[in-house]
Amino acid sequence: MQPHRVEPFINAEQIQKRVAELAQQINRDYAGKSLVIIALINGAIPFVADLIRRLDLPGLRVDTLRASSYGNTTESGGSVKILSHFRLDLENEQVLVVDDILDTGRTMSKVTRLFDSENPASLKTCVLLDKPSRRAVPFTADYVGFEIEDKFVVGYGLDYAERYRQLPYIGVVKFEDLVTPII
Ligand code: IMP
Ligand code: MG
Repeated sequence: MQPHRVEPFINAEQIQKRVAELAQQINRDYAGKSLVIIALINGAIPFVADLIRRLDLPGLRVDTLRASSYGNTTESGGSVKILSHFRLDLENEQVLVVDDILDTGRTMSKVTRLFDSENPASLKTCVLLDKPSRRAVPFTADYVGFEIEDKFVVGYGLDYAERYRQLPYIGVVKFEDLVTPII
């Protein structure tokens, strides 16, 4: 695959600073409580890895849920599929769902309905990025790293056709610079 030019948008230092601030807030809010974090994979992998290492919550447990919204590579589609299920029992637990980005809101609204049906003691959501102008279903996250305008971003877990998740920064794909179409 011909790599695209990726224009830096939020650098690694800015991300780490904001992740530390979010962790501080979560530490305060859940001090002395047990917490279960559910990371939506693959997108939340780098974010949740950095976030949990900054949490000072001895009873913390971490699980994952693989959700996928079908559509083309830059537009999430209308239907969200749950591809693999979490294992922990969430009944009476404090649950925090973590994702890379809140876009149309379809993924978060579907997965939070699913988690709600497990009767957790509390259910909150945390996203690194939020594109409020793209919302198709109403949804507000409890913890938001950065609110951004409507542009397609990659890096730090976010992908274009499964590429670029490994970048330590978030960038904007310059599609117009593409010489060879993506395979
Ligand atoms: P939603 O269901 O439309 O809110 O979309 C959430 C999912 O769409 C995220 O978990 C991402 O996988 C994907 N997504 C939305 N916007 C972007 C983007 O700008 N870059 C990469 N993936 C995105
Ligand atoms: Mg994703």
